[in-house]
Amino acid sequence: MTEDFYQNPQATYKLLNEHGSVHHVELPNGMRAWLVTGFELAKKVLTDPTISKDLYGPAGEMAQADANVALRLDPPVNDNLVYADPPRHTRLRKIAMKALSGKAIRDFTPRISEIAESLLQSIDIDGTDSIDLLSAYAYPFTITAVCELIGIDSDDRAEFQGWLQTQLSAAEVADKYIAAANFETYVYRLMGKRDGRAATDFLSELMSPADDGEQLEKRELVAMVNAFLLGGQETTAALIGNSVLAMLRRPELMDELRESPDLVAPFIEEMLRHESSGNVSPPRFTTEPIRLGDKIIDAGQVIVVSLASANRDLAQFSRPDEMDPHRLDNRHIAFGYGIHRCVGSALARMEAKTAVSCLLAHYSKISLDVDIDSLRWQSSSITHGLMSLPVRVTRRP
Ligand code: HEM
Repeated sequence: MTEDFYQNPQATYKLLNEHGSVHHVELPNGMRAWLVTGFELAKKVLTDPTISKDLYGPAGEMAQADANVALRLDPPVNDNLVYADPPRHTRLRKIAMKALSGKAIRDFTPRISEIAESLLQSIDIDGTDSIDLLSAYAYPFTITAVCELIGIDSDDRAEFQGWLQTQLSAAEVADKYIAAANFETYVYRLMGKRDGRAATDFLSELMSPADDGEQLEKRELVAMVNAFLLGGQETTAALIGNSVLAMLRRPELMDELRESPDLVAPFIEEMLRHESSGNVSPPRFTTEPIRLGDKIIDAGQVIVVSLASANRDLAQFSRPDEMDPHRLDNRHIAFGYGIHRCVGSALARMEAKTAVSCLLAHYSKISLDVDIDSLRWQSSSITHGLMSLPVRVTRRP
């Protein structure tokens, strides 16, 4: 797999799918893995209890040696539910679900609209009619939303994001631990606050015991906050960008969405299937030999699932390459499937719908400010999102 894979993943999947749904690949970052591209096999991998996500378990250990790259990052970044197996995963997940419940998201919805509106107004104040929709709108929107949910003060956000990035970067291990310690101290301080705001309610939910009395240790809570920050910003911002690009490609669709606001939710749902911000799932590890289609995969191997390819599987969806917001057969797996299915899916849907609706209501015209062929996608097999999306906008009178 080369950089072309990032720039046009569906073209690569078309070629691969001519030869089956399970492929031994080397991703552009050098990682060797089994890539599953068909819908049914994807669901099988995502639900097979013999396949582990535990980076620190024996299968994870063995698989990483074979995969050619180190997947483990320094704690506490990875020490959360994303990379845990049951029973630890079950315990952590129950508490995460409680904090991101339907009610919590409904309560947060009015604030999400305010964040979108105030960002659009601040763009107006700048007076420009040419903006990068990602850096001016989509990213600040999702970063502000998740930071407010957690309760991070606006003055502290840049420093807080810096600590997070350092932990994920190629920085010296000592620097990573300093960043992790600062991050931890800050979250502990937040946990000490009780001023009744939504953000504090969210942390209170994470801190309080589940129905069965299970409770997070302090260290686990910090890792959980990390998981929400990592899982909740980039993915949703990229989905908003991809959705705006789809409207720019089809101006008649943009008009239809402006005239029928109820169509925005099904449009976002179809975008999740057709061009979601997730490409390939995080890695999983075989703990015993497993048959997938016509291949037998040994124990201790890395498996990744292409959600983007599975969601275009002709055996599952009619006209899979067509983006149709009126589609009825849309049981996609953009948020995964099985026990690790995205805990933030309700928040992500609500944010994407709000961001697109507010944009359409605010501007009477949005058009691409560069040649469509010059747009570049991020070099990442996990996130399928644009590097930038320059647009020209006309404000409503
Ligand atoms: C469009 C936006 C999003 C997409 C496409 C997305 C996609 C996914 C996918 C595919 C998984 C499953 C990964 C796997 O099985 O290995 C997942 C898990 C997860 N997501 Fe999201 N996500 C989005 C938004 C969010 C948001 C807004 C949050 C939180 C604020 C979030 C937090 C998480 C967490 C904590 C997990 C781990 C769940 C577990 O392992 O049990 N995500 N996400």
